Amino acid sequence: MNILITGGAGFIGSHVVRRFVDNYQDYNIYNLDSLTYAGNLENLKDIDQKSNYNFIKGDIVDEYFINDLFKRIDFDGVIHLAAESHVDRSIEDPLAFVRTNIIGTVNLLNAAKNTWKKNYKDKLFYHVSTDEVYGSLGKDGLFTEETSYDPNSPYSASKASSDHFVRAYGETYGLPFVISNCSNNYGPYHFPEKLIPLFINNIIEKTPLPVYGDGKYTRDWLFVEDHSRAIDLVFHKGKNHETYNIGGFNEWQNIDLVKLLCEVMDKKLDRDVGTSQKLITYVKDRPGHDLRYAIDATKISKELGWKPSVTFEEGLEKTVDWYLSNTEWLNHVTSGGYKEYYKKMYS
Ligand code: NAD
Ligand code: TYD
Repeated sequence: MNILITGGAGFIGSHVVRRFVDNYQDYNIYNLDSLTYAGNLENLKDIDQKSNYNFIKGDIVDEYFINDLFKRIDFDGVIHLAAESHVDRSIEDPLAFVRTNIIGTVNLLNAAKNTWKKNYKDKLFYHVSTDEVYGSLGKDGLFTEETSYDPNSPYSASKASSDHFVRAYGETYGLPFVISNCSNNYGPYHFPEKLIPLFINNIIEKTPLPVYGDGKYTRDWLFVEDHSRAIDLVFHKGKNHETYNIGGFNEWQNIDLVKLLCEVMDKKLDRDVGTSQKLITYVKDRPGHDLRYAIDATKISKELGWKPSVTFEEGLEKTVDWYLSNTEWLNHVTSGGYKEYYKKMYS
């Protein structure tokens, strides 16, 4: 099997690539990534010498390049993770999200359709998406696979659009596909612009922890390796033309999560109890901020036997330990361009 994994140098993609390279030694894994600010080959240095791993640097927005790639390599499956993924950046520059998340996805769909259409048997286009396409929940309820799409940010609108294109290629051209919509991930190799790694980095550096609005926004957090295991299951056992919601059954208001993180970090860094909490600073809210996300993961649990393997407390501790023992990784990703970004967004 030749498997194309896009965005494999990013946070979730690197976990998926590692899992497939290690667990499926008879598959050739092709990691296609353009190495934006979020893509980092250091994420994969433990497996990059393995004989079934191949890295291809390229942009999914480049139609010619993508068509040529599908002509050169006979892919059996695509696991598509490449995306612009940060809501705050999407508010600053929506077009970058349209290009990669919509046009890039359609380029991949076209190439897959054109090379596979004579015989779709044993082919699969797996599109990895987010729960943010469903919009915001009120105080109650959960997102199911039947919840209507109602995206509120340019990021979620671009992901919603890409999901629709994938489904449309299935309906119109018969392209075999699966989609999964997952809740917020956390864990090793997470770029420190998202809440948890950003705050870990700021606590290490004793700089303010910028909590948006009143901090009462709620997210459903899942350890990244549990997501990667779910992707493996959906890829191998998911039903053609189906969507699977993936989530941790693990809702936290941002402020409670931040307080727990502060406690864990104080212990690990041998600082007095309460030291890190003093860094909490309430800042201007994100425009269009979704109040609450929470996933009903009953379908994947019943049909594919998946459930999260670690509690949030365990996962958070593992994550903190990883960041504290990988300061070189953190220093590399937070130097240069990152400093400019931080100044612009938080000054
Ligand atoms: P990330 O930003 O860490 O990584 C994205 C990767 O895609 C990077 O390696 C980047 O270099 C690459 N990329 C970006 N534009 C590209 C282009 N034009 N061509 C080729 N490569 C390009 O993202 P992530 O958090 O790992 O998310 C991966 C996928 O999972 C995304 O599709 C995202 O929407 C989805 N998702 C993320 C979360 C989450 O909590 N992070 C939750 C649910 C779903
Ligand atoms: P984030 O990690 O950006 O993920 P998403 O917006 O995709 O859910 O943010 C998670 C939550 O944390 C969200 O409610 C916004 C909030 N947040 C802050 O309060 N401060 C920050 O500096 C960041 C990056 C996020």
